[in-house]
Amino acid sequence: MNTHKHLLIVHHTQSGSTKKMTDAIINGAKQENIIIRSRSALKANSEDLLWADGLLLGTPENFGYMSGAMKHFLDEVFYDCLERVNGLPYAIYIKAGNDGTGAKNSIEKILSGLSLKKIQDPVIAIGSLTESVIKECEELGQLMAMGLTESIF
Ligand SMILES: Cc1cc2nc3c(=O)[nH]c(=O)nc-3n(C[C@H](O)[C@H](O)[C@H](O)COP(=O)(O)O)c2cc1C
Repeated sequence: MNTHKHLLIVHHTQSGSTKKMTDAIINGAKQENIIIRSRSALKANSEDLLWADGLLLGTPENFGYMSGAMKHFLDEVFYDCLERVNGLPYAIYIKAGNDGTGAKNSIEKILSGLSLKKIQDPVIAIGSLTESVIKECEELGQLMAMGLTESIF
């Protein structure tokens, strides 16, 4: 029996910090029974989302909102995936200069429209990346991977 679970990570970075968070999440999520698909928000599409058993979204906060690239991804997939991803577990990670709540609220509103299921509050990194934020990212990856393999979400 194939027990592999599919984890989709959709991310955008401009100056590299969100990429570092993505790398830490992937490190944490690597497990024998997890297949990870890591996609740029500019390239990911509804086929990726329909493939996924779990979703992690990573973006910088720009102008009090998610990045334009992440918005592009959500615009692309929304109607294709409506009613086809109900209950899909997700979590968000955000890199911000000084806030992060605008990115959080904007993504959560759209994902609740898609009836996705939040597994934990976002990891929001403000200012420079610290070891403790990188650890939080690894733990988020681990939590998602473990929850998927154990079917606890
Ligand atoms: C165009 C632009 C707009 C930004 N707007 C915000 C903002 O509204 N709130 C905030 O906390 N940080 C803001 N920032 C800071 C970025 O979120 C921060 O530099 C982040 O680390 C960028 O992530 P990246 O290195 O993955 O590109 C902005 C940065 C840019 C370039």
